[in-house]
Amino acid sequence: MILSSALRKLRTEPFQLQRNARYYRVLAIESSCDDSAICILRREPDQVVLEAHEKVTLDSTKYGGIVPADAFAHHLRCIAPTISRMLDLARRPQIDLVCATSGPGMYSSLAAGLQVGKGLALGWNVPFIPVHHMLGHLLTPRALSSGKAPGYPFMSLLISGGHTMLVLSRSLYDHKILANSLDIAAGDALDKCARQLGMRGVMLGKELDKFTKDPKLGPLPDNFTVSLPLEKKSQLTRAKYLSFGFAHFESVFPQAEKKYGFVLNEQQESVRRHFGIKMQEAIFEHVGRKIELVLEDEIRQGKISRGQRLDFVCSGGVAANSFLRARIQALDADLDIKFHFVDPKWCTDNALMIAWAGIELFEAGESPDLGAVPRAKWPLDQLEQSVRI
Ligand code: KG4
Ligand code: ZN
Repeated sequence: MILSSALRKLRTEPFQLQRNARYYRVLAIESSCDDSAICILRREPDQVVLEAHEKVTLDSTKYGGIVPADAFAHHLRCIAPTISRMLDLARRPQIDLVCATSGPGMYSSLAAGLQVGKGLALGWNVPFIPVHHMLGHLLTPRALSSGKAPGYPFMSLLISGGHTMLVLSRSLYDHKILANSLDIAAGDALDKCARQLGMRGVMLGKELDKFTKDPKLGPLPDNFTVSLPLEKKSQLTRAKYLSFGFAHFESVFPQAEKKYGFVLNEQQESVRRHFGIKMQEAIFEHVGRKIELVLEDEIRQGKISRGQRLDFVCSGGVAANSFLRARIQALDADLDIKFHFVDPKWCTDNALMIAWAGIELFEAGESPDLGAVPRAKWPLDQLEQSVRI
């Protein structure tokens, strides 16, 4: 009782920062997975200025995956010192708003960032805004254009290590998921296929993208093709037919090893590179086809008009991929599509996207929330204003 009345008092005290203010500083923390990312962003009337940004990634090479307890320890080790460095870099400015990712992601990783963020907001007596991680990815083009483009409504392909979805955003709080993955995310499948090709380290999808840039290609077994999942319309419900699925791709190389009697890891680099290209082409062909089907379906239902202008955002870690970009640019749809590809530097997890999403939320009237808890699962279409105590 004492605790809850203390929290209520804190949250009802007037905040110094006015919602219509257009000159203030935000400190943001992103810690949903294995990156501790911090930034300081200055909000000005017509632009935002990035004063400091740094991301420290946990090296999980030896485990071949992220261990939640190690990620937690990584955040405990890195978040506070990185904040201190960023504050020094920005010459210890006054911070007016603090934001941190509150979900979706790994519970303990989220808790690490949230706790530091709330502590700072409490100490500085400034508002604290919890932020949805995928909203951050979705709004990144708006962050990079200081809120100028795209305007609502717009469509987004959010494609990362944890999510793959096609979203229609009508406003800051109104996001309709038009297609989602039925199993794992595209980035997860790419990481696993890259590991099967013998790659080690972190961000293997990125390494695979780099590895396959070299034009020297060795021969593949005769008739080797990568089949696409969720293609048999007559055997699928409409919802499944209009979905993504990437688990299928994990079994392609092991099956080829059995069928053709070879060990992938022992193949020459040029052959492995060729396999890597075929795999990326197939994964992104699947993504492109499903987007085309959804767009066709939206047009057929009269939700989008033929020839209409459509702003299309491509964001999330995998959006940096060159094969994906080429396939998306070649989308076959009867629409006037304006693409918003996020600069590769800001495709993967970062704190700038959290700071910007926090700015949009704060200026839209979102209540500061010192009681925010991590939400490991948090569908983007349930982005209701946070529950008040
Ligand atoms: O958005 P992100 O940093 O974290 C999540 O929210 O998941 O995305 C990380 C994922 C990893 O799977 C990584 O391998 C993949 O994005 N990735 C890429 C590229 N850069 C990062 N995948 C393919 N091509 C890239 N260039
Ligand atoms: Zn992400």
